[in-house]
Amino acid sequence: METNKLHFKGRDLLSLHDFTPGEVMAIIELAGEFKEKQKRKVPHPYLQGKALGMIFQKSSTRTRVSFEVAMYQLGGYPIFLNANDLQLGRGETIADTARALSRYLDGIMIRTYAQADVEELARHATIPVINGLTDLLHPCQILADLQTIMERKGTLAGLKLAYVGDGNNVCHSLLYGCAKVGMDISVASPDGYQPDREVISLASRDALLTGSKVEILTDPVEAVSGADVLVTDVWASMGQETEQARRSRVFSPYQVNEKLTAYARPDFIFLHCLPAHRGEEVTAEVIDGPHSAVWDEAENRLHAQKAVLALLL
Ligand code: CP
Ligand code: NVA
Repeated sequence: METNKLHFKGRDLLSLHDFTPGEVMAIIELAGEFKEKQKRKVPHPYLQGKALGMIFQKSSTRTRVSFEVAMYQLGGYPIFLNANDLQLGRGETIADTARALSRYLDGIMIRTYAQADVEELARHATIPVINGLTDLLHPCQILADLQTIMERKGTLAGLKLAYVGDGNNVCHSLLYGCAKVGMDISVASPDGYQPDREVISLASRDALLTGSKVEILTDPVEAVSGADVLVTDVWASMGQETEQARRSRVFSPYQVNEKLTAYARPDFIFLHCLPAHRGEEVTAEVIDGPHSAVWDEAENRLHAQKAVLALLL
């Protein structure tokens, strides 16, 4: 970490939209450096003695484990906090929780429902707050996605990414992330499930600055045509379990299968944040096939989050 990255210190990661294109690229570069160090077994204890509290109001496999391991490998220590076991679960306010935790910890990662709750936590905390997924956004995931695309394609600007499926948290953070790094993004979602208007408008504004394109469509074939990167996600996110049956019907024409991927560039890569439902949003042929980069993508959560932690804490 030779570069002067002091301007990151103490900041929150609530949304990728809050970072400049240069800052997003700096995080991805540092993620690559951490990956190298990790592979060569070079110690990198940048957070010696620092503690990260991790509040989870939703389930997690990758986010929890990658943040925990990231903190250990950086010389710090993570503290897993199940929201139901905190006084938060018994009605203590987010503001008071933020004030108290700020006296013990060096950073807080939170996975919850409302983006407003993460913002409230950040407003009252005196330490950095990192968004580990809300109903609106999933910024840490998209940093790992961008790192994976960079590794596979050697560049980001000028590529085309197609997202097919629900206009959800992953889709929103992809819109922000692609626009920041100058990648074209085409989203295909059914009517009624398209991404949030404000996110589209903010991403489109960034895209103008980086010379990239944001396209919101309903036709998956149009979105996927000529794409370098194909991304999908579950049709029903955490918290939408009761809508599962209806969503399965609405989204069935949006399955990423070999018929659809035939429209992408021959050297396309496939990404999925996981967990995946084979036979729903993606077929086994695609997610387990030669174009899939989902395991590198999952691994890169560790490296990208190390970069975020080392920069912010
Ligand atoms: N992709 C992702 O965030 O996975 P988890 O829900 O397992 O953390
Ligand atoms: N959109 C999914 C992502 C899971 C990592 C959800 O919110 O459940």
